[in-house]
This record gives sequence, structure tokens and C-alpha cells, in this order.
Amino acid sequence: MSTTAARPAQSGLEPLIRHTIAGASVAELARTYGTPLYVYDAEMIRRRCRDLAAWDTVRFAQKACSNLAVLALMRGEGVVVDAVSTGEIHRALAAGYSAHATPGTGADGLPPVHPIVYTADIFDRESLDAVATLGIHVNCGSADMIEQLAERVPGASVTVRVNPGFGHGHSQKTNTGGEGSKHGIWHEEIPDVLRRAEWAGLAVTGLHMHIGSGTDLAHLAEVAGALERVAVEIGRSLTTISAGGGLPVPYKPGEVHADLSGYFTLWDAARRRLEDRFGHRLRLEIEPGRYLTAESGFVITEVRAVKKQGARKYLLVDAGFNTLARPVLYGSYHPMSLCPQDGTPSAETDEVAVGGPLCESGDIFTQTDGGFVATRALPAARVGDLVVIEIAGAYGFVMASNYNSKPLPAEVLIDGGTARLVRRRQTPEDLVRGETV
Ligand code: LLP
Repeated sequence: MSTTAARPAQSGLEPLIRHTIAGASVAELARTYGTPLYVYDAEMIRRRCRDLAAWDTVRFAQKACSNLAVLALMRGEGVVVDAVSTGEIHRALAAGYSAHATPGTGADGLPPVHPIVYTADIFDRESLDAVATLGIHVNCGSADMIEQLAERVPGASVTVRVNPGFGHGHSQKTNTGGEGSKHGIWHEEIPDVLRRAEWAGLAVTGLHMHIGSGTDLAHLAEVAGALERVAVEIGRSLTTISAGGGLPVPYKPGEVHADLSGYFTLWDAARRRLEDRFGHRLRLEIEPGRYLTAESGFVITEVRAVKKQGARKYLLVDAGFNTLARPVLYGSYHPMSLCPQDGTPSAETDEVAVGGPLCESGDIFTQTDGGFVATRALPAARVGDLVVIEIAGAYGFVMASNYNSKPLPAEVLIDGGTARLVRRRQTPEDLVRGETV
């Protein structure tokens, strides 16, 4: 499948300077809200939602970035949500989503959209209680879930998440298909699962596949055929099919955006063939996380030390893997730029390793898979300069932790050039709340 539009700026070795994010001054943001700081560009999120307008439903995998202000913004764009926990259900409700759809069929012949879908491979006791009490639609990743739901909500309709026997991700840790993955109902188990659903009195109205995160369109395209085959096995009870998430975004210089229209055409054709076979319309959903928020997010962090270890130069900043875990977890590459505190960049470029404050050698942003420390060409930096870590809006804040008893950073949303605090930085009191001596 072909690719289009290149990521702007960044030719790789060119020193990168950034003074603004979405029209707001980086230095001013750091002064007002402190560092490390997560900043999101609202307009970029809207743009990414609109890129997917061809799909009947865009369901945001909120695990990528679940701040209430981001969810409310998504809601304004007509995007619905996926929830993997009681906490995410709670967030969706707090952002204004309804628990369930109004029954009936729209003028377009499509079934109603479930505003929130609980997608997981298990129910813990709390989540089973929540979906049963609130009437939330469930996407079951194991047959046990079907029976557990049937006991609590007799006659419910469900979606099944099927593992097609293959998967792909940017890392083996984000590959959600094949025998090496715990996710979904194994494709060969479908006849048995359908019998169990019928016995339990549940109707299977939805079919979903998600083969991994940070994959590519060549792998994703294989899912349409696999889903079509399973849909035929399930039959006419289906009213909704979901392509899952996994849409890639360009992180590294030279990477480009994927051809989304070709991808939609492929899925639309599969949907139409199934509609002809079933004699009724099918809702076609897509469930991206990364695609909708990655490029909107930035971490602003301050350089606190510049030092040499033998021949290698290190910039030590006040963000660590407690702030952004993707490099330590997957060796992920994030573009970086520098905002000099006096506004004038040095003419020199340095090859530097960028690390954080944590008491652990893995606390390095410039590392490759396997934990090998790499370097990055950045304009020469001094203590007090700001480093901006880019494309950090997906799986950034949501995977931040309190390791080393560091407070979670603040989050700010910029819209129309105006910054708004959407989550305050944690305080030392927050860190010990709930504990007793
Ligand atoms: N749907 C389901 C059921 C998922 O489990 C996920 C992601 C998505 C959709 C969205 O996938 P996306 O469009 O974002 O690729 N922490 C990792 C990514 C983990 C993905 C988990 N599931 C990272 O930082 O790359």
C-alpha cells in the first residue's frame, strides 16, 4: 500500500530549535506550569479525528491519552470511546459520554453507536459490576466473559474480539495477534464460542480484530480478509464490524503518513460484501489510539546538568521514564528539539545522550531496543535550556508513574493559541495520600 505526506521539518542532522507549540511560547509554558510538562495541541487532535471521517464510527482507544479535556474534545468531534477498565468507563462518563445508545436503527439503516465499549480479555469483579449496572456494551476477548456477562445481564448483545492467528506491532510487546498473544478469542474457537453464547442466551452483534499497535498498513490490510471470513461464520446476527486500531504515525525523520484512503476502501469493500450476503447494513468502526493523539503531544523538560562520561556527553533533564516510558520500555524514538532559555540558539551541534533524574541506568530517552544508549544531534545546550520531546501524546502521560516518588506532571491543552491547565501537577501530599504509618 502506498504512502503519502511526509512529516514536516526535521531533516535528521539539522539542529532543531523550537520556540512555540501550537502558537504558545515554550519558555512561557515552562515558566507558568513548571517542568516536566505535558502539552497537547487541540487543533492537531481535531485534524486527526477528521482524517478518519470516511469511517461510520471512530472509536478512540482512550488508553493512549485519557485526560478528560482530551476526551471531551473527542466527543465534540463525534468520536466515541473504548474502555479497558472501570477507571476508563468512569473517565468516559465524566467527559460527558452516555453509558449506552438509544436503541433503534438510524435513517441510514445502521445500528446505533455504543458511545462506550468495554474491550478486555477479562472482567475483574469491579468492571463486571460496572458494565452490568450501567448497561455498557462489551467486547469479549475470552469466552469466559460471555458466560460471566450472561449471568448478570441475561439477553445482552455482545461483540467478540477475535485473534486471527497473526499479529504485528512496533515491538513484540505491542503485537496482539497469534499464539504469542493473550488477546482475543482464538479464530478456530469461534464455532464453540458461538454455541456457548447461544446457550447463555446472548446475541453476537459485533466482531472486532486488533492485531497490534504501531504496525503498518501492509499488516493491517490482512485483517480485513480474516475478519470477513470470521464474519461469515458468525452470520446475520452481526450489525457492527471493527477494524481495531494500530494505525501508524511517523516518529523518525524520513517516515511518512500512511495512505488512509486506500485502507478505508479495502475495509469498505469487505463491509459491502458482507452486507450483500446478510441483506442488511453493517456499521464499520475503526479504533485508533496513537493516530489521534501522538502528534498532538509534547513533553517540555529542563536541562539540569550537562556532563561527560569519557567520550560521551549527557544532557540530564528533569523528565525521566517516570514521565515518558516508551524509550525504556520499547527503545522508542521520539524527536527532540531545544528551546534555549535566552532565545538564541548556539551555532554548535552536539551529539548527546539525553537522560533523566531517576536512579536507574535505563533512564535514557535516547536508547534503542535492548537498552543500548544512543546519542542525538541537538543544538549545544546549557543548564536551564528546555528540551522538547515530541510526538509524545500517545502512551505518554497515561504510562507515567510515581517511581522514585516523583509527582505526575501537569497537563496543558492549547487551543487557539491559548493554554489551559487540564491536570495539575501532583504535590508531595498527593504522593502519600492513602498511606498510613
Ligand atoms: N484497540 C485495542 C483493543 C487496543 O488494545 C489498542 C492498544 C488500540 C485499539 C489502539 O492501538 P493504537 O491505535 O494506539 O496502535 N504502550 C504502547 C502501545 C500499547 C497499545 C495497547 N493497545 C506504546 O507506547 O507504543
